Parts: sequence; structure tokens; C-alpha cells
Amino acid sequence: MRRADAVRHILGERLASQPRTDSKAEVFAPANIALCKYWGKRDTELNLPATSSLSVSLPDRGSHIVLSLHAGESDAIRLNDAPVSSASSFYRRFTEYLDLFRTPSGWRVNAEIRSSVPVGAGLASSASGFASIVIALDQWLDWRLTREELSILARLGSGSACRSLWNGFVEWEAGSRPDGMDSHGVPLSDNWPGFCIGLMIFTERTKPISSREAMQRTVQTSRLYRDWPDTVERDLCFIKKAIHEKNFHLLGKTAESNAMAMHATLRDAEPSINYDLPETLAAMEQVRQFRETTGTDLYFTQDAGPNLKLLFMEQDLQQVARYFPGMQTVRAFPTSGV
Ligand code: PMV
Repeated sequence: MRRADAVRHILGERLASQPRTDSKAEVFAPANIALCKYWGKRDTELNLPATSSLSVSLPDRGSHIVLSLHAGESDAIRLNDAPVSSASSFYRRFTEYLDLFRTPSGWRVNAEIRSSVPVGAGLASSASGFASIVIALDQWLDWRLTREELSILARLGSGSACRSLWNGFVEWEAGSRPDGMDSHGVPLSDNWPGFCIGLMIFTERTKPISSREAMQRTVQTSRLYRDWPDTVERDLCFIKKAIHEKNFHLLGKTAESNAMAMHATLRDAEPSINYDLPETLAAMEQVRQFRETTGTDLYFTQDAGPNLKLLFMEQDLQQVARYFPGMQTVRAFPTSGV
């Protein structure tokens, strides 16, 4: 119910907007990788975070969506060219989110979604997914909202989605208002040409426990989690300093230790949560060895899944790619701008 209040607060009279029968919206939203993680909520319904977080977007990896009016009684969704069953949790999550913006007998959609990251495998597919839906709705229903307002609406679908409204570095400011109107993404103006992210995908299987559930269990049961807000405060400060000064060593080191601190709270939860596969641990060890033997600034980060993201600068790309042949490289700032 409070999600509906938040939507009403932002949309006001625009909640009554209807799509034109012939209209279609086609948009893309990038996935984002947190360098300082969002882990733990102060409000589970509104996805309000316990702390701020900071990410970098993957400009050519994410969700592409085409929305148009569906004449039937229920939404028709296709994901990567295959129909999505109405019994699936993906379908339910998607349609329940749309329900926030329509009356029970209101419009229905045809949604064609293409995800260029595996869905539900800890690769930020839900972040780009909800961001793409909200940008598409804004066009389709002619809301004309600001990016900040869209960021708030995207957060109601999935917390990290509020950072997928922009390319480049984005800070999600936790805010303090109970209604969450001050909790949204804020893009940083800094560009960092040469900043690379290497996707190490060991499995495309859906994770056994969702980030929502894992987060809750950690907050409720992990004693280590009590230190998390202090860890984030320190790490955010280092990461912002590193970005402003283009100090890749400081950035990589802090991002890696932030991810490890998050996973330590997961291990400390009751029952304990472990997202690692043997391949995950082996790759982490390879990163450490590579760093020690070559002196290269190569780091990793890990979200709620077994896949890793490597962080390095373009000047080291050839060397890193030779060592990690399965890696897929994404340039965070492909041209000079965002
Ligand atoms: O937005 P959610 O509920 O999928 O949670 C994302 C949590 C992490 O990916 C682990 C961290 C983050 O900041 O993206």
C-alpha cells in the first residue's frame, strides 16, 4: 500500500494517463555494478536502504524493452524471444509492478524484453529491467518525469534499479525521509576513460536465494552486519576520492574489500549464505596471484551470485584477457562522455 502512496505522490493526476492505442515505447537501460554495495534495507516495502551506495553502469549491457498496448485481459511478456509463463515469479514481479500504475481493469501491455546480462544470476538484470520499464512507461504514458523521479519509481521495483537511470558513476543517496522521496540515484559528473569491467560468468543459472531474502536474513541475524554502516561510510569516502583523483589502486582495493565485507556478513547470517562456486574462489585466487606477480592493478567485485566482475584499466586489457580467456570486457566510458 505504501508503494502505491509513493507512486501517487510522484504521479499525482498523471496516474490517470492512458496509452494511445497505436503508441509504442522502445528504450534501453544499462546494468550497473556496485563498487560500494547496497546491502540491507531500513524499509523493506519501499526498498529504502540502510546506507548509501555507489555504482558504475555498463553502457552496452542491460535491458532493452518495447512496450505496446495488449488487447487481451492479461499482460503478454516475452523475454529474449521466448514467452514468459504467467505462473513464473518473473511474470508476477513484473505485473505487480505495473499494477502500481494502473487500475485493476486498466491497460495491459505487450512487453518484448531483451536482456544482455543473464537474468537472476547476480548480474544486475533486475536493476536494468526495472529502470527500463519505468523509462518506457514514462514515454508510453507521456508522464514527462525527471530522472530523479523515475529513479524513485525504479527503486520501488528493485533497490539497485534506481542507479540504472544513468551511465557512468552513480551514487544512491540513502536519504532519511520515511516516504523515500530523498532516496534516489545521483549521477557523478566524473568520466574515467579506460575504466574496464571484466565479466566472469561461471553460470547463468538463477541464484538459489534472492538478494531480497539474503539481505533480510543478514540484517536480522548477522552480528557482523552491525559494522556494515561504518564500513560503507569509510569505503564511500575512499571511492569518491579515488574517482575524483583517478586513483585506480585506491578504487579497486576499496571495491574489492567492500564486496568481501558484504559476503562476510552473508557467511555470518543464520543459516549462513554462500554464493560461491569453486570457480568463483579459484578466480579470486587467480586475481590475487596476478596482482602479486605482475604488480598490475586488477581487482574483483561480487554481488549476490557466484559470477565475478573484474576491475582494471584499459592499458592492462591485453595482459588481463590473456590470463582470463573467458572474460567479457565492458568499457564503462566508451567515448569521452556519458
Ligand atoms: O536491488 P537488489 O534487491 O537486486 O539488490 C542488489 C544487491 C547487490 O547487487 C548485492 C548490491 C548492489 O548494490 O547492487
